[in-house]
Amino acid sequence: MAVENMETIMSIDKKKRLLDNLVIFGGKSALSETLHVGRPNKGEHEYFIQLATDILERQWLTNNGPVVREFEEAVACFLDVKHCIAVCNATTGLQLLFHALGLRDEVIMPAFTFVATPHAASWIGLKPVFCDVDERDHNLDPVEVEKLVTPETSAILGVHLWGNPCKVDELSEIAARHDLKVIFDAAQAFGGSYGNKMVGNFGEAEVFSFHATKMIHAFEGGIISTNNSKLAEKLRKMRNFGFSESGVVESLGTNAKLPEMSAAMGLVMLEQLERLGKIATANHQEYAKHLAGIPGIKLIDGYQYIVIVINQQEAGMSRDELADILIHENVQVKKYFSPGCDCLPPYNNRNYQLPVTRQLCEQCLVLPSSENVNSKHIKIITDIIRLVIKFAPEVKERMVNRGKI
Ligand SMILES: Cc1ncc(COP(=O)(O)O)c(C=O)c1O
Repeated sequence: MAVENMETIMSIDKKKRLLDNLVIFGGKSALSETLHVGRPNKGEHEYFIQLATDILERQWLTNNGPVVREFEEAVACFLDVKHCIAVCNATTGLQLLFHALGLRDEVIMPAFTFVATPHAASWIGLKPVFCDVDERDHNLDPVEVEKLVTPETSAILGVHLWGNPCKVDELSEIAARHDLKVIFDAAQAFGGSYGNKMVGNFGEAEVFSFHATKMIHAFEGGIISTNNSKLAEKLRKMRNFGFSESGVVESLGTNAKLPEMSAAMGLVMLEQLERLGKIATANHQEYAKHLAGIPGIKLIDGYQYIVIVINQQEAGMSRDELADILIHENVQVKKYFSPGCDCLPPYNNRNYQLPVTRQLCEQCLVLPSSENVNSKHIKIITDIIRLVIKFAPEVKERMVNRGKI
């Protein structure tokens, strides 16, 4: 047999053996446990138990207790903002804020976000107007925002996606010129900054989430941060049925209070912020190192989330095909945010032209990080990505033959 043919047969055989190792083709995962996106970080259990015991013995479980107030002060100090109002979650926090600001009719916001953003507006009768985002940072594109302003617009709602700040100055300038309010859904951005200020100081107010999947969590919870004292006072009443501090109902309100136990977890997690930030940064750097040079894979900046954008033409396979392979390997990746909010009920009755959003909804994939993910895991995940993209045509053919896609 000619030497050339021998080499071809050997390389085909080697390729086959490499691909046979993939779970999707009958191999065994190198990961013994499933890795998740947003698996809750752990705080120091003893500290939590001590705070929890104090709460139970004090028999003050909710209604603006001392732990909630301590949590609010600690967050305000960290953000260097005048007021923090703790709430039961960010979705309710956004609703309170819309109400307190007296928003009406249309609110311009991205469709490339978690569905809580438009739902919060719709739930209180506002109309989300979806705007396209910037391909580079996945946040609102100010040029597109300007085009959507109408006499019905009352606010611009930016979302600091993946923890990265919006173009705050441009959005604020547009809002000022059209006499609109500007507010931020900062659910994913605790610890982020813009210029020399922490996220939390911009617009009329910003709303953070402390849901269990966030780097800093309170089981469930949220904080509205603002430097506007009048707005803060209004929000404090509204989160407690409209009661003033003297116990008189002075406005419309709801029950948006954060329980003491959640605030305790928030305090415990705040102590871990530096450590968790370092882990998240190291993980992001590790992913960047190992993903470098893989065709069609772009890692988005920002340490809190590991977001890759897959260019199907360059990678030779789609985001969905890659996700399918990784999920079989015990890597529970997430196709955030797919479909975009404009394609979800009740918003899918209008034909929005959002080309960048459409593309990102098809191309983005979020990979596991947090303290549960270490450099060995990252090496395994990125080795799989490198392998399947290197042999993309063969992988796809075998997947089709096995009826996987
Ligand atoms: C961008 C965005 N907005 C809003 C929310 C809602 O936050 P919560 O679960 O605290 O209501 C989330 C939660 O993941 C989010 O990612």
